[in-house]
Amino acid sequence: MKPVKIGILGLGTVGGGAAKVLQRNAAEIARRAGREIIITRASASDLSKPRLCDTSNIEMTTNGFDIISDPEIDIIVETIGGAGVVKDMVLQAIENGKHVVTANKSLIALHGNEIFAKASEKGVIVAFEAAVAGGIPIIKAIREGLSGNQIEWLAGIINGTSNFILTEMRDKGRDFADVLAEAQALGYAEADPTFDVEGIDAGHKLTILASIAFGIPLQFDKVYTEGITQITRTDVEYAEQLGYRIKSLGVARKTEKGIELRVHPTLIPERRLIANVNGVMNAVLVKGDAVGATLYYGAGAGAEPTGSAVVADVIDVVRALTSDPENRVPHLAFQANALADIPVLDSGDFQTAYYLRLHAEDKSGVLADVTRILADCDISIEAILQKPPAKNETIVPIILLTQVTQEHKLNAAIAKIEQLETVSGKVNRIRLETLG
Ligand code: NDP
Ligand code: HSE
Repeated sequence: MKPVKIGILGLGTVGGGAAKVLQRNAAEIARRAGREIIITRASASDLSKPRLCDTSNIEMTTNGFDIISDPEIDIIVETIGGAGVVKDMVLQAIENGKHVVTANKSLIALHGNEIFAKASEKGVIVAFEAAVAGGIPIIKAIREGLSGNQIEWLAGIINGTSNFILTEMRDKGRDFADVLAEAQALGYAEADPTFDVEGIDAGHKLTILASIAFGIPLQFDKVYTEGITQITRTDVEYAEQLGYRIKSLGVARKTEKGIELRVHPTLIPERRLIANVNGVMNAVLVKGDAVGATLYYGAGAGAEPTGSAVVADVIDVVRALTSDPENRVPHLAFQANALADIPVLDSGDFQTAYYLRLHAEDKSGVLADVTRILADCDISIEAILQKPPAKNETIVPIILLTQVTQEHKLNAAIAKIEQLETVSGKVNRIRLETLG
């Protein structure tokens, strides 16, 4: 059979990593795909830059539309990123009958519904394994491996940059800005790193995971996101004294009322495997009704790990080139006409436990006032830690862990606690998941 020709839009960290893997493992890949796969064209914005892969047989251009309109090319790999002109490129590629492989989670989370509809109309595949959790084949695992299950919930460390920052800050006491700069130099961070540290990138990934887990349309605008920038060394230390680690977690959970979609710093019991996922590594826990809890672990960012996922998608597409479009695995795991309109819950309806840190006067009755407010709001306490005052101080830190409650009850309790004359400043709140 003739080789399959591919064109890569964007030959940076991921595009270059994927090309390098395709070149190095060409023979093994051809044995798997049943045909040789060759990169004939690629685009970048600065053609003088050095590349991770061998470009001697690749025709380079700064204009990706030239590649998209090349009739010789069967598959377009999109590894530029962003959702502006790139969306036009992907839609044009589909219009031209090309299959698309992308690592672009913002594009899929924001415009996936439109892109998949167009792809189905044109009978082409849009594959996006690399968009979530780097090298971990989590899309395939949920979409195909767990397709017999009702997924109850999933929870994951799905941003490598934030996990790298939290790990370095905790283990080595390093400065936030300094670790972020290293993550950028290593090619882990997004073009705009606030996407990483403010939970937006994880929100994009959670949007995709929830869609394939629960058979709902992609709806990033309904995801609650909270970043890691407010986490202090003090909270990390108190959490550890209570037997917990703080991780940025994406949680998608189906409840009787609807679906929770949330990304936020989270206390996790240190005995859980996922609490010990460090550095740029990612991990996703998926709970199915038949299989129980399953855990997937691997590198969440970087050139070759993400390239591995891109190449796997390319091979899948090559294998499917001769298949009937009607009988392919659906893009979002469920048949397009079977997606359900399940409501996504507001944050007030979230059900979780909480870590609270407040500062109060060191005198009798203060703790009783706080616990009475919590009881009045129907919130049970799991643990209390009161530290002695520092020398010459009369204010003491009090740390409380609550049992699972509804977030609107907790918000009401915090408002009342902050009004106590004996309590100074704001109550610091971090959600807690036992993941049992
Ligand atoms: P990079 O910035 O490393 O690469 C982007 C590439 O696109 C560069 O080669 C750049 O050219 C090229 N480029 C930019 N604009 C244009 C344009 N208008 N036309 C043609 N080429 C263009 O980004 P990453 O590889 O890190 O990220 C790419 C995508 O992969 C993003 O969607 C990202 O979210 C996603 N992703 C990234 C991961 C990672 O670990 N980095 C992991 C998983 C997904 P030049 O090189 O000349 O500047
Ligand atoms: N910036 C992303 C991260 C890249 O750090 O997880 C992988 O999607």
